[in-house]
Amino acid sequence: MEFGIKIATPEKQRGACAIIGIFESRKLADSAKVLDKITHGYIKNILASGDIDGKANTTLLLHNVPDTLFKRVLLVGLGKEQEFKEKSFLSALGAALGALQKTAVTDAALFLSDFPVAERTTAWKVNQTIITAAGSIYRFDQLKSKPDNNQSSLRKLVMYIDNRDELAVCEEAMQHSIAIVHGMNLAKDLGNLAPNICTPTYLAKQAKDLAKSHKLKATVLEEKDMEKLGMGSLLSVARGSEQPAKLIALEYHGATKKDQPVVLVGKGVTFDTGGISLKPAAEMDEMKFDMSGAGSVLGTLLAVAEMKLPLNVVGIIPATENMPSGKATKPGDVVTSLSGQTIEILNTDAEGRLILCDALTYAERYNPKAVIDIATLTGACVIALGNFTTGLMSNDDKLAQELLAAGEFAADRAWQLPLWDEYQDLLKSNFADIANIGGRAAGTITAACFLSRFAKKYRWAHLDIAGTAWKSGKEKGSTGRPVPLLTQFLIAQAKTAN
Ligand code: BES
Ligand code: MN
Ligand code: ZN
Repeated sequence: MEFGIKIATPEKQRGACAIIGIFESRKLADSAKVLDKITHGYIKNILASGDIDGKANTTLLLHNVPDTLFKRVLLVGLGKEQEFKEKSFLSALGAALGALQKTAVTDAALFLSDFPVAERTTAWKVNQTIITAAGSIYRFDQLKSKPDNNQSSLRKLVMYIDNRDELAVCEEAMQHSIAIVHGMNLAKDLGNLAPNICTPTYLAKQAKDLAKSHKLKATVLEEKDMEKLGMGSLLSVARGSEQPAKLIALEYHGATKKDQPVVLVGKGVTFDTGGISLKPAAEMDEMKFDMSGAGSVLGTLLAVAEMKLPLNVVGIIPATENMPSGKATKPGDVVTSLSGQTIEILNTDAEGRLILCDALTYAERYNPKAVIDIATLTGACVIALGNFTTGLMSNDDKLAQELLAAGEFAADRAWQLPLWDEYQDLLKSNFADIANIGGRAAGTITAACFLSRFAKKYRWAHLDIAGTAWKSGKEKGSTGRPVPLLTQFLIAQAKTAN
C-alpha cells in the first residue's frame, strides 16, 4: 500500500474518496465544515436526514456529492467531541477502513485535523494511520490454492495536514511507519506460516535472506556448534525433535564499531507440544505461534535496516521444536547451561526459558548496551493481562521506563510486573542449581526470575508476549506485536545516542 502526505484542505483536492469526520449531535469536524461550505450545505442536509448522527464508529458512504472533486465522501462518526481521545481515533480509523473495504475505492484521502486527539501530535496520527491501514488490508493466503476473494481494493492513502511546519516531521514519521509495517508483516507472515514450513531451518534461511537483502550479518550455529560451546539447556529442548535446532544471530551495524549494541533475543519455538509434559489437544495448533518472539526480532531488524537508524542492533534467535519422543528430555532430567548453572527440568513444557537462558549467556559476547528478550513465555501472562498488554520485567528501572514509554507511544503497550527477590526462592531445586518451574503462583514472574539468573552482566528486560502476539478464534492470526514497541524504543535510543 502506498502512503502520502499533503498540506491542503478538501476544496481543491481530487480523489476516489474523502474520509470526513462527524461528531455526535451532528457537529462537523474541520474538513467536514469546508466540504459542507463548498457543497452549499449538502453534508448538513444529509445529517438532517438522520441517516448518520455522528455516533462513534458509524459510517455513511456518499456518491456524487456536488461541487467536490472527490468521487465519494465517507462520513465517519466520531462520538462526543469532548470525549474524543486516542482510542476514539483508532476505532474511528478502523471503522472508516472497514467501510472502505466493502467498496471498490482504490485511493482515499484522510484529513487528520478532523481527529483532535489532544494529547497526540500530527506525526503520531500519521504513524497510527499507516499501521492501522496496513493492518486492515493484510491477508495471509499464501497457503491457499486460490487467493481469498475478500481482498481490499484500497491501494493508496493520502493524509492531509494543515500546518506546513509539521510537514518534515510527518514525512519522517511516514517513512518510519512504512518500515514498521514491513517489519510487522514479516513477523505476521512467519507467525501465520504452518509449523511444517516455518521450522528452525526456515527461520535461519529467513535471517540469511534478510542479511543479503539488507546488508546485515547473519551467523547460524548448528547443533554441533552449540554442543561445543556447552549450550546444554537449549539442546535439551531440541532432543525430541527430528528438526535440527539453530542459534541464529543477525547483526545490524548503523553506528561505529565502538558503539555497544542493543541485543534483542527472540524465543523461536516453531512448535511447542509441551514435550513429555504434553499439552492438551485443544487449540494445540496455536503453538505454531510460539516463535513469535523470533518473528518480532526479525521484523524489528528489517524495520531498523530500512530506517537506517544510527545505532547497532543484534538479534539472537534460539530456534527449535519442543516434541515428545523416546529421545526427548524427561521431567527430572538435570542439564548444564552455557553459563555453567545446572537446571532441574521439572516440566518440559517450560521450554522457552531453557532455550532463552543459553541465548542470554551467548549475548554477553556482544558487550551489549542492553538486552531485551521477547517470548511467548507463560499462559499465566494471558491470565494476568489478557490480550491487550505485554508483560514487562526488568533488572533496570530506566530501561523498563523507556520500553513502557515506547509501547505507550506506539499503542503497543506493556505493563511492568515486579521482579523482587522474594520470588526467586520459588525456583529452588533439591537436585540442581535451579528448577525450571516455580509452581502455579506468579508464573509469569517466576519465569522471568529464571531468566534473570542468566542476565546479571548487563541491563536486561523481558517482554512476555503470550497474550499479545496472536489472536485466537475467528480472527486467528499473528498480530505483528511487539514490533511497533521495539522499533519505537530503538528510534528513541538512536535519538538519545546522537
Ligand atoms: N508457549 C507456552 C506459553 C503459552 C501458553 C503461550 C499459552 C501462549 C498461550 C510455554 O512454553 C508454556 O508452555 N508455558 C507453561 C509454563 C508452565 C509449565 C510453568 C505454561 O504457561 O503453562
Ligand atoms: Mn511450553
Ligand atoms: Zn512455549
